[in-house]
Amino acid sequence: VAAQFQSRSLDGLRVVITAGPTREALDPVRYISNHSSGKMGFSIAAAAAEAGAITTVIAGPVHLSTPDSVHRIDVTSASEMCAATLSLIDDCDIFIATAAVADYRPVSSAEQKIKKTTDTLNITLIKNVDIVSTVAARDDSPFTVGFAAETQDVERYARDKMQRKKLDMIIANDVANSDIGFNSNDNAVTIFSKCGDSEAIAQTSKQQLGRLLIAKIATKVH
Ligand code: CTP
Ligand code: CA
Repeated sequence: VAAQFQSRSLDGLRVVITAGPTREALDPVRYISNHSSGKMGFSIAAAAAEAGAITTVIAGPVHLSTPDSVHRIDVTSASEMCAATLSLIDDCDIFIATAAVADYRPVSSAEQKIKKTTDTLNITLIKNVDIVSTVAARDDSPFTVGFAAETQDVERYARDKMQRKKLDMIIANDVANSDIGFNSNDNAVTIFSKCGDSEAIAQTSKQQLGRLLIAKIATKVH
């Protein structure tokens, strides 16, 4: 009964979720990226749709099938992910940033394949736009949730990130433990809310965690 009750907790609300890694091109055949699988974001998208939300996932390059009733926009780079996000944000009630967005991109992408003519090669990188901060800074911002993957001082860094980025909630995971988090099927997290409260969720499947996080977000949005 409780599960049924919870299952429509986001009825009619519009949820946008970023997921997966981004790829930043060096030349036509090479890129900088990371090991994010997108599983956490896709699990949250599935749970949001189950909860009755009109759900869109903006996905970097991942090998995952689209959950039932979820709209999907595929992107490659951080700039594309940002543009796709901003195109949806006016009609969005809840924004959840799970993507492992590349912090930097090469200043320019070579038009032709880079040849190995020198012993050393310098690549200059430039910072990408912070998508979740951009969303949270808007006048009429949606309820905005970020993630923080940290290897030390998890609580301090996560709370600091929530404040700096003006988020309503941040979900922190300790990626020093390599069995969980990045690219695995399980995760263990702590949820910190703007109002100061926190809740730890012990290791569980990302599918189950998606449902728990959506249930928690629903209690804060209503
Ligand atoms: N994020 C984003 N756009 C970026 C970088 C990060 O939207 N260009 C979002 C992530 O999706 C996540 C949150 O910001 O929800 C925190 O990402 P994280 O990498 O932990 O924080 P950074 O601000 O990039 O700081 P650092 O990597 O130095 O810890
Ligand atoms: Ca980062």
